[in-house]
Amino acid sequence: PNGRLADALGRPLHDLRISVTDRCNFRCVYCMPKEVFDKDYAYLPHGELLSFEEITRVARIFIAHGVEKIRLTGGEPLLRKNLERLVGMLRSLGTPSGRPLDITLTTNGSLLARKAAALRDAGLDRVTVSLDALDDGVFRRMNDVDFAVADVLHGLDAAHAAGLGPIKVNMVVKRGTNEDQVLPMARHFKGSPFILRFIEYMDVGASNGWNMDEVIPSAELVRRISEQLPLVPVDANYIGETAARWRYLDGGGEVGFISSVTQAFCHDCSRLRLSTEGKLYTCLFATRGHDLRALLRAGRTDAELSGAVAQLWRGRTDRYSETRTVESSGPVRGAKKVEMSYIGG
Ligand code: GTP
Ligand code: 5AD
Ligand code: SF4
Ligand code: SF4
Repeated sequence: PNGRLADALGRPLHDLRISVTDRCNFRCVYCMPKEVFDKDYAYLPHGELLSFEEITRVARIFIAHGVEKIRLTGGEPLLRKNLERLVGMLRSLGTPSGRPLDITLTTNGSLLARKAAALRDAGLDRVTVSLDALDDGVFRRMNDVDFAVADVLHGLDAAHAAGLGPIKVNMVVKRGTNEDQVLPMARHFKGSPFILRFIEYMDVGASNGWNMDEVIPSAELVRRISEQLPLVPVDANYIGETAARWRYLDGGGEVGFISSVTQAFCHDCSRLRLSTEGKLYTCLFATRGHDLRALLRAGRTDAELSGAVAQLWRGRTDRYSETRTVESSGPVRGAKKVEMSYIGG
C-alpha cells in the first residue's frame, strides 16, 4: 500500500481506535446503565477477544495504510490483563513516514495510579482520563459504582509523574445531571498540566435513553465559562481533531469542546474502530461491523487482509452526526447501534 488511502468522501485513514475489552468497572449512566449491564449481561468470552498478537498483526497492516495514531479503549482498557505488553508490541512497529506512532489510551482512571509507570515504560505516549464531576455525590451518581473523585485525581497525578504526555480529561456534560460541575471543573484544571474537554452527551448505542433535551450545546458552555473565565478560540492541532480548542485569556491554559451533536465533525473524520472481537466499524454510530477476525483466523495472508481493509475504507460514506435526526437516534430500520463500551468511544 502507498499510505494514501482515502474513503468515498476523500477522507484519509489516520486514527485507529482499538477496544481491548467490552467490560468496565464503572456503570456510567450515559454508557453502561445498570439496568442493561447487570449481572446477567453477556460479555464476550475470552476466546472471542483478539489476542495481542492478532491486534499487533492488524495494527501493522493499518499503519502501512497511513494510520499514525493508535488509541486503546474499552470498556475500561486497564481491565485487560498485561495491557502494557500490548503497548510494548505496538511500540515496536515502524511507520512508513518514519514519524513515531502516537500511542494513547482512554481510561476511567480507576487503575491508573497502579499502572501508569508500567505503561509509560512500555512506550505509551499519553492518556486521556474521563471525569464527569469534582463533587463526589455527583460523580458517584454518574459512575453508579460509588467511585470517589479523589481516586481519579490520584490516577491523573500518577500519570503526570510517570511522564505521560499531554494528559486530557474528558467530561461528558448532561443537562440537569452534572451541569453545575462545569465551572468547578474548569476552575480546578485551569493552570494545571491537564487539558479539560467538555463532551456533548451523544446518542451512541441503544441503552442510554438519549434525549436531545439533556444535551447542552457547546456554544452555551463556552458562553457560561467565558462569563467567569474569559476564553478565546485557538486553531486545531490537526485536521479532523474532535475537540474545538479555546484558551483562557489570562494564560491559564486551554480547554476543548467536543460537539458531535451541535457541530458535527464528520467531514474530516479519519477514525476507524476495531472492536474487542475484531470487527471493524467505520463509524461510532454503525449498526454493523466487518469481521476482520474471521479473515485472520481463516489463515489469510497479510496481503489479503490489507486488500480487505483498503476496500472497506475506500467504500466508506459514513457521516452519521451530520445527518442525525430524532428518528435516526433510535434503532435504524430495526437495527440497534453498537454500544460504546463494545466499540470503544
Ligand atoms: P485526541 O487524540 O487527544 O484528540 O483524542 P480524541 O478526541 O480523538 O479521543 P477521545 O477518546 O478522548 O474522545 C473524546 C470524545 O470524542 C469521546 O466522547 C468520543 O466518543 C468522541 N469521539 C471520538 N471520536 C469520535 C468520532 O469519530 N465521532 C464522534 N461522534 N465522536 C467521537
Ligand atoms: N456521549 C458522550 N460521550 C460519551 N462517552 C461515553 N458515552 C458517551 C456518550 N453517550 C465518553 C466517555 C469517555 C469517552 C471515550 O467517551 O466518558 O470519556
Ligand atoms: Fe466505563 Fe467509560 Fe463507559 Fe463509563 S464511559 S461505563 S468508564 S467505558
Ligand atoms: Fe466519524 Fe461517524 Fe463520528 Fe461522523 S459520526 S465523526 S463519521 S465516527
